Amino acid sequence: MQPKDRHTLDLETGPEDAPDMSRALVLLPEMRGREDEATQQRPPEARRAEAIGLAEAIKLDVAEALAVPLRKPTPATLFGPGKVEELSVLVRTLGTGLVIIDHPITPIQQRNLERAWNVKILDRTGLILEIFGERAHTKEGTLQVELAHLNYQKSRLVRSWTHLERQRGGFGFLGGPGETQIEADRRQIQDRIRRIEKQLESVRNTRSVHRAKRQRVPYPVAALVGYTNAGKSTLFNHLTGAEVHAEDQLFATLDPTMRRVGLPHGETLIISDTVGFISHLPTSLVEAFRATLEEVLDADLIVHVRDIASPDAQAEAEDVNEVLSELGIEAGSDPRLVEVWNKIDLLGADVADALRRKAAGATDKVVVSALTGEGLSDLLHMLEERLFKERAVVEVVFQAARSGEAAWLYDNGEVLSRSDDPKTGETRLVVRLPSGRLRKLQERARGDGVTLNVPKEAQTA
Ligand code: GTP
Repeated sequence: MQPKDRHTLDLETGPEDAPDMSRALVLLPEMRGREDEATQQRPPEARRAEAIGLAEAIKLDVAEALAVPLRKPTPATLFGPGKVEELSVLVRTLGTGLVIIDHPITPIQQRNLERAWNVKILDRTGLILEIFGERAHTKEGTLQVELAHLNYQKSRLVRSWTHLERQRGGFGFLGGPGETQIEADRRQIQDRIRRIEKQLESVRNTRSVHRAKRQRVPYPVAALVGYTNAGKSTLFNHLTGAEVHAEDQLFATLDPTMRRVGLPHGETLIISDTVGFISHLPTSLVEAFRATLEEVLDADLIVHVRDIASPDAQAEAEDVNEVLSELGIEAGSDPRLVEVWNKIDLLGADVADALRRKAAGATDKVVVSALTGEGLSDLLHMLEERLFKERAVVEVVFQAARSGEAAWLYDNGEVLSRSDDPKTGETRLVVRLPSGRLRKLQERARGDGVTLNVPKEAQTA
């Protein structure tokens, strides 16, 4: 990443009269009577809490969060002239240098409002990108976020301010170009995009080498997924005794982290902590999660951690299930998926007991408190049971010349027996595999030359 020169002064506003960039006003435009707006589908209180949480995730001080009724967006300024004036007074009174608008805005609207209010404006995508920019730690994470940021900016090249990037040490290529600079900047961004895509390619190749190495340790993997702030890192720490960044803020985790945990009967499980999901993640940012999502796809078990005390618990679970479904993991039918109802300690005794009873009647749900430790041993028992149940013994027959096949089976499963027939050149392996690997094997065996005998009870859809 090549940040712009952070010492360059903005010509329009010198540092002495620069408004406070760490204080933000959050605006939540409410489109009355419009069902098609993505942001309108959540209860206003949950949406407000989430917007504040996102702002706080990059340590902004939220001076106020305000719902603003919006009948019809004004093309030039989103809000009508009267509202723009009214909010201008509010911005001055609060002394905020930053306004976050929880709604998509066009570059023109952004520029006009920035001029009218003498602030920097961030929309939802811009804000999430800032968060990702701060949280990406791995090479791939950083590159993916930068790529998403560049793509976002490419389409938004109008003259805009650079305070936020300079002061907060963000990506810095928002760049405040003069109008005549725009074409040159666009070309530069395009060049940078191409370079990043190349780098990403090589980083991905390296990563698959790493993953292949890890898979040689034939431990099953459970991936923690869940809505942001559900308590994944806390659960991960409690289960594994590891020190992983857990904070009372959104997106404490971007890069997957893995640790071993011992199961009740001595088996080892690798637990992988992944990034939190967020409602209506802009599609342009989905790619920035690829690494995390790929980890989930490879997992033998998927542990959906839910903040069951959240007022928006249901909608949050639906969001997560929707994303999982896009990855081909269907809640309710995928045997790899279990649900953890976390933060039970925050609920009143009656509600908590009702939930405990409900979970006790299901084979794929468990009530826990990652904070107090309640239910964690039940969770480990459930994971163990799933793993044993999901392990299948299969027979694989292939031509010995296909040495890659044998190598894959040794890496991914436990080979119980092997026979090589010199006459036919056939190798026959009996292997015990976790269900996630069985699925992979079935995909591999779709080509010619591999015969797979899977007992009926172990077959996966
Ligand atoms: P992201 O990294 O943003 O996806 O969040 P996360 O799901 O990893 O959540 P994290 O573990 O950072 O927890 C978020 C907040 O919830 C922290 O303040 C935790 O202390 C709190 N928390 C987690 N589990 C529990 C719990 O069982 N009970 C209570 N009361 N608080 C919890």
